[in-house]
Amino acid sequence: MKYRKLIEKMTLEEKASLMSGKDFWQSMDIQRLGINSMFLSDGPHGIRKQAAAADHLGLNPSIPSTCFPTAATIANSWNQGLGEKLGEFLGEEAVSLKVNVLLGPGINMKRNPLCGRNFEYFSEDPYLAGKMAANYIKGIQSKGISACVKHFAVNNQEERRMAIDTIVDERTLREIYLTAFEMAIKEGGTKAVMSSYNMLNGTYANENLHLMQDILRDEWGYKGVVVTDWGGSNDRVAGLLAGNELEMPTTGGETNIDIENSIRSGEIKEEVLDECVDRILDLIFTTEDVFKQSSEDFNLDKNHRMAQLAAEESIVLLKNEKNILPLKPGTKVGVIGDFAKNPRYQGAGSSVVNPTKLDKTFECLDESGIVSLGYAPGFKRYGKKSSKLIREACELAQKAEVVLLYLGLDEATEAEGLDRQNMKLPQNQIDLLEEVSKVNSNIIAVLSCGSVVEMPWIYKVKGLLHGYLGGQAGARAMLRIISGDVNPSGKLAETYPISYEDTPSFNNFPGKEVTVEYREGIYIGYRYYDTADIEVLFPFGYGLNYTTFEYSDIEVNREGVTFKIKNIGKFAGKEVAQLYIGCTSKNIFRPAKELKGFIKVFINAGETKKVTIPFDDKTFRYFNVKTNKWEVEEADYEIMVGASSRDIKLTDVIFIEGTGASLPYDKYKLPSYFSGEVKNVSEDEFEALIEKKLPEAKWDRSKPLGYNDTVAQCQYAKGAVARFAFKLISFAYWFLRKIGKRKTANIIMMSIYHMPFRGIARMTGGVINMPMVDGILMMANGHFFKGLNHFLKERRKMLKNNKIKSASKVEKISTEAAKER
Ligand code: BGC
Repeated sequence: MKYRKLIEKMTLEEKASLMSGKDFWQSMDIQRLGINSMFLSDGPHGIRKQAAAADHLGLNPSIPSTCFPTAATIANSWNQGLGEKLGEFLGEEAVSLKVNVLLGPGINMKRNPLCGRNFEYFSEDPYLAGKMAANYIKGIQSKGISACVKHFAVNNQEERRMAIDTIVDERTLREIYLTAFEMAIKEGGTKAVMSSYNMLNGTYANENLHLMQDILRDEWGYKGVVVTDWGGSNDRVAGLLAGNELEMPTTGGETNIDIENSIRSGEIKEEVLDECVDRILDLIFTTEDVFKQSSEDFNLDKNHRMAQLAAEESIVLLKNEKNILPLKPGTKVGVIGDFAKNPRYQGAGSSVVNPTKLDKTFECLDESGIVSLGYAPGFKRYGKKSSKLIREACELAQKAEVVLLYLGLDEATEAEGLDRQNMKLPQNQIDLLEEVSKVNSNIIAVLSCGSVVEMPWIYKVKGLLHGYLGGQAGARAMLRIISGDVNPSGKLAETYPISYEDTPSFNNFPGKEVTVEYREGIYIGYRYYDTADIEVLFPFGYGLNYTTFEYSDIEVNREGVTFKIKNIGKFAGKEVAQLYIGCTSKNIFRPAKELKGFIKVFINAGETKKVTIPFDDKTFRYFNVKTNKWEVEEADYEIMVGASSRDIKLTDVIFIEGTGASLPYDKYKLPSYFSGEVKNVSEDEFEALIEKKLPEAKWDRSKPLGYNDTVAQCQYAKGAVARFAFKLISFAYWFLRKIGKRKTANIIMMSIYHMPFRGIARMTGGVINMPMVDGILMMANGHFFKGLNHFLKERRKMLKNNKIKSASKVEKISTEAAKER
């Protein structure tokens, strides 16, 4: 232990006190020993430091900071150097705001396009997400503070995120859902990890010994701190045993007492706590030095320009019929669509940043050389179809040479705590497009969405640019692409299926009651579409450019692959070349191809560059469930270099000796996995994959409600009051949506509907404790008066205890002061 001497000076109470927050955002301090609090702030694409009212849903404003593009956007840049640079900027802002731990990046896999938080995550591919995350972390931590990679692990749906039990097989867990975390830890060196709310195969993530000990600590050698997601602690002692040091936010000391009691009773050894204290101290001491140096305010303009550059690198050109883009200077455009005036530049929830400034398309048009004939909103962001707005838009479109049509998803659709209901753009926007296309066929659609949308309307537009959520300078960045000042170089970090029904987890998303079954296994995103040969709208890794690249001269050796790329077009540009690997043996089921490397290179017009993508420890490995280890199968491997997963330019084959492990699967029991056609895997086959019986997926409605049941489950509670409360909440939600207050309705869903009962204690900072929750549960379970009585009695007890505690604190302080005198 690094701080043994200091720890020896601490009382048991002091040690336990460090294991949970002091308030909503700070860890506990012990001033007599010179131990300060740490400030933790969201994250991930800007600093959300709340000076006054605190919340984890992005409701109250924070101190202004630069709003950079979200992770889903930056992933499209495929630029690792950019990731690191952004990390440095984030780190610098965090330092100037005295934030020790920046709560990001978020690196959960995009298992399904409807996960409400996809805008905050990088990719459907673990290698791309892992590389980007590792670079963010390096950048952030180079400034002397800590990143906090989240949410560990398999947190891939927002509905019931605090209670859902994810059922996933070990190989899928390792290859798909943990690889990016492994890279964030081993390559990025993150000092903090945030555990996720959900359960993994029956145990809460932060209590899961397999996840937290076997994998995180023993296999990956992680020495840092694990922080719970806010309010995500269930059994504090079980969490501590699994090595979860910090519970956030404060519980008013309630769970510290659980820790103290468990040590006094011998349930856990004091050394376990000491080790946790040691790691917390290390995080505190190694992230506060930087505040002792004189810190300057960050440079708003410089950082705004960085946000712009990051957005420029990440915009994806999806369609460019007859080279309608870039627009020539002087082109007369009609600007249509509410998003041109009110940019959608970030998602909703805990990641909401209060930007230092905000570029708007209309205000940046002049400098782009494009001539605007005017603006028409065309639709109401939250409203129904408006014939008047459509008429005005068509009048403008008629006069214009080209229509710039700004479409997208609104802030209430893509939000933390909720999943999207479908993959469509709002109908009023599609209606507008339909009408505008009748009067002007030169339409360039500009999309602002944090994730995938269906595009049955695509043939009506000639140009299509996707800016994702481009941060505070996204609007200007987009215009620079439209005008040709910047050549687009972004490529999709996720596949665009033709329709939602095509997605591999279509039948198993989201988990609605007890469990969510990952029946598609390792086949998420392109791993599925490319193996099962499903037609897609845009493949993974796809993106156009104003120039054209030619690939040649592939050479493969044991170290990696080398090839040439020539820019045969008229513009200088950047190309993202991707390395995919496919195993030719059919002994172990595998995706047809998997991304194992990528490079982004700048090439002048007419120039040729020779590039190398090295192989690494991930190139040929697979996780063998029999040996419980990463193994390599002896086989010929196809080496594919492509401009996207469906545009393979060069191929070769290399023979690789294996590790000789026995084959893990019985082919006949797993036909869907061997064919890749995993949309309808039967219960039996999935059980064969996970090698156990599936747990009950539905709620047991006969059981009384307990700590981990959610408010939504009051629908079948024994107590009439609870059922009535459920009806009231559901009605409020329905009514608020009906009257167009979707954001307020969302808050009900996020903060009440899906909240487990224990969350009432965990999220109220000690105002309501667990014995009081017992009273609430009694009421819900049909013992109203007994429960109310219990609740009030426990409340009185708590208030009395608090009084005694503060009196003894005052006494202690005055005795110490007297001693000093
Ligand atoms: C989110 C975390 C976030 C935390 C604090 C939670 O609701 O899941 O990502 O860091 O709140 O705001």
